Formats: sequence, structure tokens, C-alpha cells
Amino acid sequence: MREQQMPDLAEDAAQVSPSGVPLRARPRRLRRTDGLRRLVREHQLQVDHFVHPIFVADGVDVLHPIPALAGHARLSVDRLPSELAELTRLGIPAVLLFGVPNDKDATGSRAWSPDGPVPRAIREIRRAAPEQVVMADVCLCEYTGHGHCGVVDAAGAVMNDATLVLLARAAVAYADAGADIVAPSAMMDGHVAALRAALDGAGHEDVGIMSYSAKYASAFYGPFRDAAGSTPRFGSRRGYQMDVANAREALREVAIDEAEGADIVMVKPAGPFLDVIAAARARTTLPLAAYQVSGEYAMLRAAAERGWLDERAAVLECLTGIRRAGADLVISYYAKQAAGWLRDER
Ligand code: PBG
Repeated sequence: MREQQMPDLAEDAAQVSPSGVPLRARPRRLRRTDGLRRLVREHQLQVDHFVHPIFVADGVDVLHPIPALAGHARLSVDRLPSELAELTRLGIPAVLLFGVPNDKDATGSRAWSPDGPVPRAIREIRRAAPEQVVMADVCLCEYTGHGHCGVVDAAGAVMNDATLVLLARAAVAYADAGADIVAPSAMMDGHVAALRAALDGAGHEDVGIMSYSAKYASAFYGPFRDAAGSTPRFGSRRGYQMDVANAREALREVAIDEAEGADIVMVKPAGPFLDVIAAARARTTLPLAAYQVSGEYAMLRAAAERGWLDERAAVLECLTGIRRAGADLVISYYAKQAAGWLRDER
């Protein structure tokens, strides 16, 4: 009686092993050897996708380790060539630059000053490693005394449109210095359009924009803020960064940035937002970046240091998950180590 209602099951039942187990579906057949597993592997983690973040400090001969980002340091421009040589050796195609100036002010003017840390670093990379893709983060939080991502009004609220003008100024300064891609991360409305217009107006039609489209007000930025000295002195970033509970809104942000002319869109952080990466992947034809942020790195690192995780396996699993969710580019503080591990595997 039951068999008649479900003919498929009936057929399966006809092919049972001596022990009575249906034989039709045995996915384990393709997991049996490393060769079989390689043949049917759906996603690859490759060094080609990695972007390595660098914190550039003012001054000379600076190598200031960042405790919560073990293995990373604030580097002065003269320290970059050895770092670049290592990236070239590992085959990492791109760097993302953050400036850490000595002097901060109310408007963050060191962000666009041609002798600020980032323009100087870009010129040095162009000279020392011309094949590197140079991406420059465009935000004011590392440059303002109050630590917010834009200029604030008397009440301490970040002013969107006044900030756009300054972000555009910084983007043009980085393009002038030779950046391939500028990456606005301040979460101001209209940031892509403002940067695109300013870049085109300055003759930088070929400089691309990677927008931090869906950047969440995350608890995982702590180590970065220590590194960049960019913790807000008052208030929080919840008035401009996205609410972590929202996914639909991320798709709206991606659509807006795409319409404004973004070349690459981003979801950040990565690990806690894999659903958002997958949803964005399904909605846009643009390349999609995901940022495995400082807190994600610190978590893995701390557990590994205590011997609670196999660092290599856990990191490669997280990075593979980010790719599987749909990211093309992966920005990660583990880029160098992961590149080394992947190379050793081959
Ligand atoms: C600048 C910026 C931040 C990060 C990238 N760009 C900090 C923030 O928004 O507070 C975080 C990166 C990380 O945690 O690794 N706005």
C-alpha cells in the first residue's frame, strides 16, 4: 500500500544491500580519496582572492606592533619595501591601506594631505612593487580627533553631506598618488556618487571604487580601532553603520552603490554575515568583497594560542566559508599566513 503511493521509495527498496540499507545514494563514494575529493570540490580558496590590510604610520623607522592583531604592526613608509617583497613572494595581489597619522584634527585633514601617510605609502608602493594592486580605505575616523567617520555638528551628530566633500577630497588625493582603487568605508549616503564625480572631475576615470556597501555597526572592530586609534570619543557609529539585525537593508545598500557606479561592493564583517554575503551574491553581478575583520582574526588567533583550535584548519575553514557564501575578494589579516598554507598544500 505505502509502496504504491511512493514509487521512488519502492524502487530504492528493491536495491538494498545484504544488511538492508538502501544503496542508491552513497555520497561517501566521492569522499573516499583525496583525488576524488579534489575532483568534486565546489569552491577553491586561492591566493588570487586575498587582500592584505596595512596600517601606515607617519614618521620614520616605525614598526609598532598591534597587540590585538598579533603579527601586524603600524609601519612607516620606509618599512614598506620588505613587507611588499614578502607579499610578492607569497603572490598576494592586493593591499588595502589605512593611515594612522600623528596629528588628528576636527575635520581629519591629514586624510587628504598629499604628504599624509597614505599618499606617501601609495607612491612608495608604486615605486617598489608596481605590480601590486593598491587599494586605499577612504574614511575620516583615523584622522579626526573625535574618532567619528565624518565631521560632526554642535550636537555631535555626523553630518552626511559635509563629510562627502572631504571623503571625495581624500579619494582624489589617493588617486593622484597612484591608487588603483579607493574604498569608501564611512557609510555616508551618496559616498559612491560623490567619489565617482570627484575622481572623474580630476581625470581619474580609471580609478575604481570598492564600496563598503553593507558595513555593520559590529562589535568585531575593536582591535582595528586600537590599531588605528579610531575609537569614537563620544557616541557610537550606530547612527551611520548598519544595524546587525538587518539583511534586506544590505541589499538596498548594495543596489544604491551599484546604481551610483561602484565597481566592487562589500559586506563587512564576513563571518557573522555569511547570509548577507550569499544574498548580495544573488542580487548583484558586480564583484563582491568580504572583509574578515580584526575581531574575527583576534578570536581565531586567541583560541589558537591557547591550543584550543588548530589555527591552520580553522582559518582555512573560515576563509573557505566566506568564498562559499559568494565572496570574490577576501580581505583578511590572515592573508599572508593563508597564502603560505595554500602554497605548502600544492
Ligand atoms: C574605518 C574602518 C573600520 C574598519 C575598516 N575601516 C573601523 C570602524 O568602522 O570602526 C574595521 C576593520 C577591522 O575591524 O578590521 N571606518
